[in-house]
Amino acid sequence: MSKTSAGQKKNQGDRFKGYRLGVGLGLRRENSEDLVKYKPSEIDCLEAAPENYFGTGGKLYREFLELAEVYPIVFHGISTSVGSLKPLNRNYLKEVRAFVKDFSPAWFSDHLCYSSVMGAQFHDLLPLPFTEEAINHVVPRIQQIQDVLDLPFAIENISCYVHPGEPEMKEWEFVREVVERADCGLLLDVNNLYVNSVNFGFDVEEYLQHMPMERIMHIHVAGHRVMDDFLLDTHGENIIDPVWKILERVASLTSLPAVIVERDNNLPPLPDQLAEVRMARQIIENANAAGVSAVGGAK
Ligand SMILES: [Fe+2]
Repeated sequence: MSKTSAGQKKNQGDRFKGYRLGVGLGLRRENSEDLVKYKPSEIDCLEAAPENYFGTGGKLYREFLELAEVYPIVFHGISTSVGSLKPLNRNYLKEVRAFVKDFSPAWFSDHLCYSSVMGAQFHDLLPLPFTEEAINHVVPRIQQIQDVLDLPFAIENISCYVHPGEPEMKEWEFVREVVERADCGLLLDVNNLYVNSVNFGFDVEEYLQHMPMERIMHIHVAGHRVMDDFLLDTHGENIIDPVWKILERVASLTSLPAVIVERDNNLPPLPDQLAEVRMARQIIENANAAGVSAVGGAK
């Protein structure tokens, strides 16, 4: 149904880097109509949360279908609750699986967190403790998701403001151990990385040097708000230079199958969203010119 297809998997032997989706934008209720109207050529792909369309019809779903005919769609969930103590929600995964069958996305992703307690779903992404116990809990659940969906899965680093309990390791160790042991992909949100590095006082370069670059399938670039004494991750502001710099650094280190400008709140007019997509593309093209085969679909 969509333009996304097995044809985009260029190298069967390279599970995580064999895809080339390019540079795109998060599909939101607020930009859906304009995207359908203008179908901007700046965009190679769109990222959508499948749960936004479960059991829906109407205008929003029709727009989604029309966009899926034009752009490859990469699915990014918010309800898997990988870290929850409850069993994975089979009904949710079943619905995602139906979408996977219909739209053939290259992979599915969600956050390294929990977002439900006692079966009640929240819209917040709640942090896991950086402990061996949490790794041992999360890893088989990620493997289960990949098995159920029969699709590569990428886990995203989240921003947070407190550690639940005493961390046994650094953030990069926790994230790396999860993706390595689960044998999954990494969705690196460079804004979340920047926000945490400032709020918790760690070194971005140290984080990147220890991260398995070959597992990065997907990048999020986003904005945050500067408060008096901390950074608030809103995904609702313009992307600032230090975050672009991290994208630039990552693009210099590895190829990037997909780069998504992720704006969740306070969406500006579409031309302003597209300006950030163009900025991301310029950074990737510069990395390409410097010798890193960074991202496919570049225009
Ligand atoms: Fe993100």
